[in-house]
Amino acid sequence: MIGKDRFLVTAALPYANGKLHVGHIAGAYLPADTYVRFLRLWGKEAIFVCGSDENGAPITVRALQEGVSPQEIVDRYDAILRSSFAELGIEFDIYGRTHTPRHNEVSQQFFLRLLERGYLAKRACDQIYCRTCCMFLPDRYVEGICHWPDCGGAGARGDQCEKCGRPIDATRLLQPKCVVCRQQKRPAGDVIIRTTEHWYFLLDRCADEIRRYLDSHPEWRESVRRFSYGLLEQGLRERAITRDLAWGVPVPLPEAAGKVLYVWFDAPIGYITFTRVLCESRGQPEGWKKFWQDETAGLVHFIGKDNTVFHAVIFPAMLWAHGGYRLPDAVVANEFLNLEGDKISTSRGWAVWVDEYLANFAADPLRYYLTAIAPETSDSDFSWREFQARNNGELADNLGNFIQRNLAFCAKYFDGKMPEASQGLTAGAGLLQEIEDSRREIAEHLANFRFRAGLERLMRLSQRGNQFLAETAPWQMRKRDAAACAAAVHIGLRAVEALSIFMAPFLPFAAANLRRMLRLPAVAPGDWLAEPRLTVGHVFGEPEVLFPKIDDGAIERQMRAL
Ligand code: MF3
Ligand code: ZN
Repeated sequence: MIGKDRFLVTAALPYANGKLHVGHIAGAYLPADTYVRFLRLWGKEAIFVCGSDENGAPITVRALQEGVSPQEIVDRYDAILRSSFAELGIEFDIYGRTHTPRHNEVSQQFFLRLLERGYLAKRACDQIYCRTCCMFLPDRYVEGICHWPDCGGAGARGDQCEKCGRPIDATRLLQPKCVVCRQQKRPAGDVIIRTTEHWYFLLDRCADEIRRYLDSHPEWRESVRRFSYGLLEQGLRERAITRDLAWGVPVPLPEAAGKVLYVWFDAPIGYITFTRVLCESRGQPEGWKKFWQDETAGLVHFIGKDNTVFHAVIFPAMLWAHGGYRLPDAVVANEFLNLEGDKISTSRGWAVWVDEYLANFAADPLRYYLTAIAPETSDSDFSWREFQARNNGELADNLGNFIQRNLAFCAKYFDGKMPEASQGLTAGAGLLQEIEDSRREIAEHLANFRFRAGLERLMRLSQRGNQFLAETAPWQMRKRDAAACAAAVHIGLRAVEALSIFMAPFLPFAAANLRRMLRLPAVAPGDWLAEPRLTVGHVFGEPEVLFPKIDDGAIERQMRAL
């Protein structure tokens, strides 16, 4: 896929009903941002699309809990989400919102088209209804025990089981409870099953197509494939895509007054809406088609694993049923990130919130740590102590130190100018080779979504650089053999320049600082494969510490605050 020239990369639209924590970042946003930055350095055209998921029960339940309007909720959290992303250096080309007229229009058209093509059917159906509240209880308005026999998890919501991740049929929940009654501290409401009407997406008709689609992607992560095939084995069933709710995209039919589209129907369409809006803003109203309707572009979705069913099965089926769309090339799902050995839980407050983190630390150490422990093939664990140890031991003592030593030595003995390598580069041939190997291998890892391995490879380059300095010891050579000393420093600085590019997808702030220190322009598209720019006599800026150490006190404060 990396052979393609143009890419659309999406990251799951976060619900505008809460703040971001490190689990969200590690799950989807950081790998997506790293990938996009890499694609551009590699010379590819890429657009990066995301936005706030503002419709449906996740928002209204939150509004209920906070005692404010849904609009107030989405306005507040949309602003918080935007600023957290920006401060972390997660830079979208567009960050849209789904509670907008434009998105309503795109989703409604999509709905009507599926209806016209015979992929939607209206059905009378049973729904959970609270007689105390006089309302149907869509999705997370009802909680109970998971009905999948091999799960039985408590706290399953009406849409999806928290524990096994599978879709839930709310009428089959065991011991269903009304969330509104609980919120308003009434005794458990009188919950009954009552008939209503909804539109169903005939997912079962897409089963063969979805199987062929999955079969055509043996390269996907095993977890995504296993989960998706598992759903096919159980048989794909038609699914209601409308809800009795007052907040969301209105169902565009006169007979459907008071009903909205299911949030999981409209949200992925948000990727399309936002791509369209982006292309329009660039003066190319038809531009979105080259991403969504043309196989020559790459289309990649980054998600957390709880979103797998929607991205690997349902959304592709929607696109296929609609016709005219190509299907995504890759659905990259991460496993979960735990915190100090326990599952992150927003309700229990067991989380590291991005805005709170950023009030105390810089973005890059978090980006570094979350990539180093990325839950790519299994769950992983965030630990404050390990965060500190990796920042101090790896970023500061390995990467930062290598850069610093070269620049400081150059400032002191070569007047801050790139020394000559007139003696030839033989002494540093190993390190030069290492630079080229890293260039290829890091790229190979990133192109295949192995971010953790890519970062490890980057750190090995800097480690080799430190070894090279230790072995050649230019500070000892200086008087004995000035030319050899100059050549060693020259080569060390070549490695520093390469690092400033290779680290940019992972550590964009530090890379930008380093480029300033090197007095080189900011990294630009295609730089991954460009010729080195440091020439003999190039004047460097003042060396500064790129990665300050984090002291025990700062970490202990965070641990106490948990
Ligand atoms: N809001 C969902 C979540 O946080 C993700 C939506 S992804 C999209 O789990 F595809 F629907 F946009
Ligand atoms: Zn109730």
